[in-house]
Formats: sequence, structure tokens, C-alpha cells
Amino acid sequence: MPVAGKTILYTGAAGGLGTETTLSFLRAGARVVAIDNDAVKNEALVDRAKAEKLAGLVVGAIDLSDLDALRRSLETLSKKIGGFDVVINNAAIYPSKPFEDYSLEEMQRVQRINVDAGIVCVQVALPHMREKGWGRIINIASVTAFGGWANLSPYVQSKGALIGLARAWAREFGAYGITVNAVSPGAFPTDAEKIHPDPEGYTRYVLEHQAIKRRGDASDIANALMFLASDAAGFITGQTLNVDGGWVMN
Ligand SMILES: NC(=O)c1ccc[n+]([C@@H]2O[C@H](COP(=O)([O-])OP(=O)(O)OC[C@H]3O[C@@H](n4cnc5c(N)ncnc54)[C@H](O)[C@@H]3O)[C@@H](O)[C@H]2O)c1
Repeated sequence: MPVAGKTILYTGAAGGLGTETTLSFLRAGARVVAIDNDAVKNEALVDRAKAEKLAGLVVGAIDLSDLDALRRSLETLSKKIGGFDVVINNAAIYPSKPFEDYSLEEMQRVQRINVDAGIVCVQVALPHMREKGWGRIINIASVTAFGGWANLSPYVQSKGALIGLARAWAREFGAYGITVNAVSPGAFPTDAEKIHPDPEGYTRYVLEHQAIKRRGDASDIANALMFLASDAAGFITGQTLNVDGGWVMN
């Protein structure tokens, strides 16, 4: 996919899906500004890129929950780098417990990291995209937003917001050559899955629901993101692409 030369702002880039996608973008000649607050995962991402002798990785060890600090760091980075062409709002936390057990502050913290940090990323990236008349914004949603899964209420809330923002932003930014879409992963065997107490039972459940009878691989997400970030996807906007082996169909 022609993403060479593009600068990608990618939150949660050192995570399970983020690492593979970041490496795919680097292999394709893009520059990736990888934002993650997990020092161990950041180091592992750098090591993976080094092992393949890939250039273009800029790691920002930034905590997305501090929105003012995030804005300042991104503005500095943006000036240094010459702006972001693609924003992928991917970072997420996914606490799991019954709705009654969440305080309002806990609910709000999930929105701050999963949604509000993405709003800040887009606010910082937008002037450069508008000036260039080209941009790509991709919000990472989740199959849970379509099934309304139990014990994940703030997470499901955040994914619903990201899908809504993708539509609203698509409508507003289309005139500037900027497309905005959501990618909704199904169930991928990453850290996000460790919240399930019975891994084998969960795998059976996943395969029963998918049309395709294999577990998803991070490369499945990477391929979708590479496509949506490229010129080839220039006429697709406001959409949610379910990358879930044929689980949700709408
Ligand atoms: N893995 C799945 O099955 C699955 C399914 C549906 C949706 N998703 C979505 O895909 C995206 C990636 O998920 P993943 O499976 O790679 O999860 P992951 O937990 O491996 O990755 C998320 C990354 O976000 C980072 N992060 C969390 N809080 C942060 C903060 N405050 N500041 C900076 N970074 C922070 C984490 O350190 C982590 O590296 C998420 O949006 C998730 O909701 C995943």
C-alpha cells in the first residue's frame, strides 16, 4: 500500500495490535510516531524495529490520561516533524466489572484515555491535514460496541463514541480531503483478551461466532489500517470496517 513518506500518529502503538501495525507501516516506508506509556512494551517495539533495521520509528513515552501534557507534547512533536498525515486512535483501557461497581470517576477515566486523548490528537493534527488537503483519521472501535457486552460499560461507551466521532468528523472534514473511518476488531489474542477467565472456552465462543474458523491475527488489523491510511481508500469515509472474521454483519 502506498503509505511511504506519510507520518502516522499512532496511540497505543506498542500494544498487541499496535506493534504489528507499526512494523507494517515502517516496512512500507512510513514514519510512525508511536505513543504509549508502557516502557517495557515501548522498548520491545524499538527492539523489533531495530531487528528488522526499519527506519522511521519515533517513540513518545506519553501518558494519554494527562490531556494538557499530551497536547503540549504533540504540538512540540508536530512542529519538529512537520505535522501528522494520519492519526490512528488506538490506545484503550478495558476495565471489566459490573456497571454498579464503577464510580463516575472510573467511567470518566476510560473516556479520557479511550476517547478524549483521540480528540486531542485530531485537534493537533487537523491544521496540517487541512493545509495539505489530505489526511486520514482512523478510530479503533470494538466488536463489543455492537453486542453491548456485559461488565464493560465504560469501554463499550467509549467505542460507541469513537464510531460516532468518526461519522461526525467524516462529514466535517470531507471537504478538506480528509477521510475518517473506524476499524472494529473482533477478538484478537492480545493482552485485551486476558480479562477473560477461561481462555479455551473464550476461544470456542469466538470461533462459534466468526464465519471464518480461525483466530484473528494482528496482521489482519494491520492490513485494514494500511489500506484505510492509503490513497487507495480515498473515497471511503464515515464507515466502520468490522475486521472480525465475519462476526458482526450490518
Ligand atoms: N485485542 C482484541 O481482541 C481487541 C478487540 C476489540 C477491540 N480492540 C481494540 O484494539 C485496540 C488495540 O488493542 P490491543 O489488543 O492491541 O490492546 P493492548 O492493551 O495490547 O494495547 C493498548 C495499548 O494502549 C496503551 N495505553 C493504555 N493506556 C494508555 C495511556 N494512558 N497512555 C498511553 N498508552 C496507553 C497500552 O500500554 C497498550 O500498549 C484497542 O483500542 C482495543 O480496544 C482489541
